[in-house]
Amino acid sequence: MAQNVLVVYGTSSGSTAEVAQTIAQELQAAGAVVETRPLAQVTDLAAYDLVIIGAPMILGWQRSATNFVAKHQQALSGKRVALFMTCYSLTKADEGGVMGIPVVLDPARATAPKNPAHLSRTEKYALPSAYLGPVLKKAPQVKPVSVAFFGGKVDYSKLNPLAWLFVKLAIRAKAGDFRNWEAIKAWARGLLV
Ligand SMILES: Cc1cc2nc3c(=O)[nH]c(=O)nc-3n(C[C@H](O)[C@H](O)[C@H](O)COP(=O)(O)O)c2cc1C
Repeated sequence: MAQNVLVVYGTSSGSTAEVAQTIAQELQAAGAVVETRPLAQVTDLAAYDLVIIGAPMILGWQRSATNFVAKHQQALSGKRVALFMTCYSLTKADEGGVMGIPVVLDPARATAPKNPAHLSRTEKYALPSAYLGPVLKKAPQVKPVSVAFFGGKVDYSKLNPLAWLFVKLAIRAKAGDFRNWEAIKAWARGLLV
C-alpha cells in the first residue's frame, strides 16, 4: 500500500517552501501519497505514516518549527519522522549522528573546520549538533529516522532591515542559491521504506 506522507515546512523568504515542494514531488514520483503544508496549517498528524518537517536556520532552527515538533511530540513519537534544515553555514562534523540520530550533510555546503582539533566560534555555531541539539532537547520523545542539513538561499532583496543586517554582519553570507537539488531529492527517496 502507498505510504501517506506529510511534508510540513516553515520559511521566511520562500526558498525552504520550494525545497519542501521538491521533496514532495520526488516522493510522489516514487509512489507515495503526499501532502505539503505550511506549519501553521497542520493540526492533526494521525493520517500519516511519515512526517517530514523542514525549516530554515533563522538564529537556530526557525522557532515555529521547533515549537511544532515539541507540541506534536507525542503524535510524532509513534511515527517515522524526518527533519531537514536549510542554512548558509554548515560545519562538516557530527557525521556519525547527533544524540543517536542519523544526520545527512549536504556535501556541497558542509565546510571542513580549518583546525579540527580547535574549532572557531563560527565553526562551532554551525555544527549539526549545535543546530539540532536544542530541537532534540525540546522534543525528547521524537526520534527522527534522519535529519538533513541543506544549503539554502540568501536573497538580500527579501530581507527586512534587521534580518539584512544580521545575515550580512553575523552570518556574513554571500547572496546566492545554494540549494543542492540532487542531494535533496536523493535524501527524500531514501526516506521511503
Ligand atoms: C534573520 C536570518 C537569520 C539566519 N540565521 C542563520 C543561521 O544562524 N545560520 C545559517 O546557516 N543560516 C542562517 N540564515 C540563512 C537562512 O537559513 C537561509 O538563507 C535559508 O535558506 C532561508 O530560507 P527561507 O528562504 O525559507 O526563509 C539566516 C537568515 C535570516 C534571514
